[in-house]
Amino acid sequence: MSLATLRDSIRATREVIYMNTGFTGPSPQPVLDRINEVLVREASVGPASPDGLAFTRGLSGEAQEMVAGLLNATPDEIFLTHGTTEGVHMVLYGMQWQPGDEMVTCSLEHPALATPASVIEERYGAVSRRVEVSPDASAGEMAEAFASAINEKTKIVALSHVQYSCGLKLPIKQIADAAHRQGVPIIVDGAQTGGQLNIDVRALGVDYYSISGQKWVLGPNGTGALFVNGENWKDLSPPWTTHAIADARANPELGPPKPAQRFRIASQSPALVAGFTTAVGLLREIGMDNVEAHCKSLGDRLRAGIATIPGCSLTGPTSFDSTCGLASVATEGWSPAQVVQVLWDRYKIAVRAVTDPAAIRISCAPFNVESDVDALLDALRTISKERPPELKPEAH
Ligand SMILES: Cc1ncc(COP(=O)(O)O)c(C=O)c1O
Repeated sequence: MSLATLRDSIRATREVIYMNTGFTGPSPQPVLDRINEVLVREASVGPASPDGLAFTRGLSGEAQEMVAGLLNATPDEIFLTHGTTEGVHMVLYGMQWQPGDEMVTCSLEHPALATPASVIEERYGAVSRRVEVSPDASAGEMAEAFASAINEKTKIVALSHVQYSCGLKLPIKQIADAAHRQGVPIIVDGAQTGGQLNIDVRALGVDYYSISGQKWVLGPNGTGALFVNGENWKDLSPPWTTHAIADARANPELGPPKPAQRFRIASQSPALVAGFTTAVGLLREIGMDNVEAHCKSLGDRLRAGIATIPGCSLTGPTSFDSTCGLASVATEGWSPAQVVQVLWDRYKIAVRAVTDPAAIRISCAPFNVESDVDALLDALRTISKERPPELKPEAH
């Protein structure tokens, strides 16, 4: 598989210019085929017949192994989830919070992390220190800002690797090192990085890393994975009761369940898990170094082009170390929703609107090409000279 064959295998590249992978990525044909194959097989022999169960039993292990290879973890350290949010919640709500305990996070976080941080404050009397970083700060300055927020009350550092609203990439390794110097673990929300960056959880030195299957990985909705470093499971209690906990209570002679099993509350679709595995496999075949470099180079082309359009400006980082394939652009006199509407109605270019700061967010994914970026730049150059349209009722 090459970047070119990946593009050819994605239907959305034929009729539209799809630049909203940070929301949900379009799946390549081999992923759709794999999902269909598993569904048909299950339907043919019966999903829970002896043959059906034998067929689907191995699919989770296969996915754990594939994701472990993506992140440089071991399969035992990978827990399959239904998305990034689930993994983040398992960790944050799996900790024992006391009044006065602190969490260090970033002021730009997605609700997937920002909301549990607020609920933990309200529920347990804990305190979240929301570090404000300027997208123009250097990696060293950002790391320093997080390091100085950590103190003896800090229980965890929790933040996104790439901030969803503006594409700011945080210096996770330096922040993890600063946290560990004070004996504090770190969880990373990797919704915008899993499948976009070449992530090495060992090199980053993180304790927990949560990714989505349906975004940059280009897998199906309802899939994802949480990396839990080595023995860290023992520091967490499941926020819910599960089959494994019930079985262990009913049959104490069998001993405690495996740590990760205690967290498995919902069953997963074998077909979607298999599709997730295939999607990760395709990216690994292309090579995550190639994927990361491609997304970043399209992002650089976009950023350079925006700088030449009067009335358009980047709301995110411009310095090389903090940028990636995700970028956000504000258009003077236009609301983000108006830009999204015209880009789609007139040009069939799909992007999304974000707030804080208000902008359109553009995802330069592995299947996008330079002509996609150029078409978007041309469209923005044209519309930025016009008056914005009335918003359609559904856009409000
Ligand atoms: C930074 C970030 N975290 C979490 C999420 C939610 O991911 P998921 O739907 O996989 O839980 C998103 C996107 O929707 C995101 O951008």
